[in-house]
Amino acid sequence: MTDAPTVANPAPSLQADRTADRTADRRAAAPTGGLALRGLRKTLGGRDVVDGIDLDVAKGELVSLLGPSGCGKTTTLRMVAGFLPVDGGSVTMGGGDVTALGPERRPSAMVFQNYALWPHMTVTQNVAFPLRTRRVSKQRTAERVRDALELVGLTHHAGSKPTTISGGEQQRVALARAIVQEPNVLLLDEPLSNLDAKLRVSVRDEIRRIQQRLGITTVIVTHDQDEALSVSDRIAVMHDGRIEQVAAPGDLYARPATRFVASFIGATSTVRGAFLADVRAPFTDGDEVLVRPEEVTLADDGPVVATVVRVLMRGHFAEVVLAAGDAELRSFVTGAPPAVGSTTGVRLGSVLVYRDGVLVEATR
Ligand SMILES: Nc1ncnc2c1ncn2[C@@H]1O[C@H](COP(=O)(O)OP(=O)(O)OP(=O)(O)O)[C@@H](O)[C@H]1O
Ligand SMILES: [Mg+2]
Repeated sequence: MTDAPTVANPAPSLQADRTADRTADRRAAAPTGGLALRGLRKTLGGRDVVDGIDLDVAKGELVSLLGPSGCGKTTTLRMVAGFLPVDGGSVTMGGGDVTALGPERRPSAMVFQNYALWPHMTVTQNVAFPLRTRRVSKQRTAERVRDALELVGLTHHAGSKPTTISGGEQQRVALARAIVQEPNVLLLDEPLSNLDAKLRVSVRDEIRRIQQRLGITTVIVTHDQDEALSVSDRIAVMHDGRIEQVAAPGDLYARPATRFVASFIGATSTVRGAFLADVRAPFTDGDEVLVRPEEVTLADDGPVVATVVRVLMRGHFAEVVLAAGDAELRSFVTGAPPAVGSTTGVRLGSVLVYRDGVLVEATR
């Protein structure tokens, strides 16, 4: 977006990135951060829907905003993009404060949840649309549209109408329509939600590939933890209008800072009753001890004896529900699962201990 005078960083050029793999160099050389949110607030219907969000996204970084329905993700993204005025706080892009600017004056582009393509326009016309209002020459528009379509692998559908292409292809048109604007900051609201499971994975990988190739600072809103874990440099977990934790996917999984984050990322069981005997971490009454299913192993000499009450085949592994008295745990078992009704020894690996909802111990 070359017509945003208040912003210091030049937009990445598609052309410049076509051949060379210079993305990493450019990122390292960039003096200022990509996107910074400070104390972002929004009150809607008398409720603090976004309640003081602070977030830094480095130039070229992909951060997911992950959280349950209604936690304020879309509201946050719309304030970042400029479609919704803030009730407090600031938005900075490429070092420039854009809080008071409308969406067309920000160096960002947003892909909406329901990507709304124009049905009467061809794919090319849809992608070219945002450039029509931006004093971009006809020739330059044609080049940029061609580049964007090539990037998302849709050159062969340039003349097609949206109704004649698949859902995944439509989603990629919406992505091309954002990328053609050469944004410094790409904002995607649930970009995969309308796709079936298989397409979701391929479009997801494609978004990541394009994002890394162009080095675009990106925020993806999702309520799908698998999506967030697989594409993100870092994940910001949102709850009730606030960010509970920001961390790289592996760190988030290994050390969920709050009980809420632990319940939202990956599977956990609460360790109770007889199973507590094998917890090798300090805890007191009132603490909650959680264990991940892959940390629960079946072993003949395991210190706790349990009964196999259910076996669910999950593909390359089985989810096995174990009971000792009235306490239950889940275990992931690869290879032949045990028979329902059989007795087995159980051993616990690392656990997470929460006190008043906050992590106090993570054994490793
Ligand atoms: N115009 C409005 N007036 C009143 N309340 C609103 C308005 N817009 C949104 N809300 C409320 O704000 C909260 C956050 O909405 P938001 O769309 O940001 O959630 P979300 O995290 O994107 O959820 P989802 O995953 O379902 O898309 C919701 O409880 C919603 O009902
Ligand atoms: Mg939403």
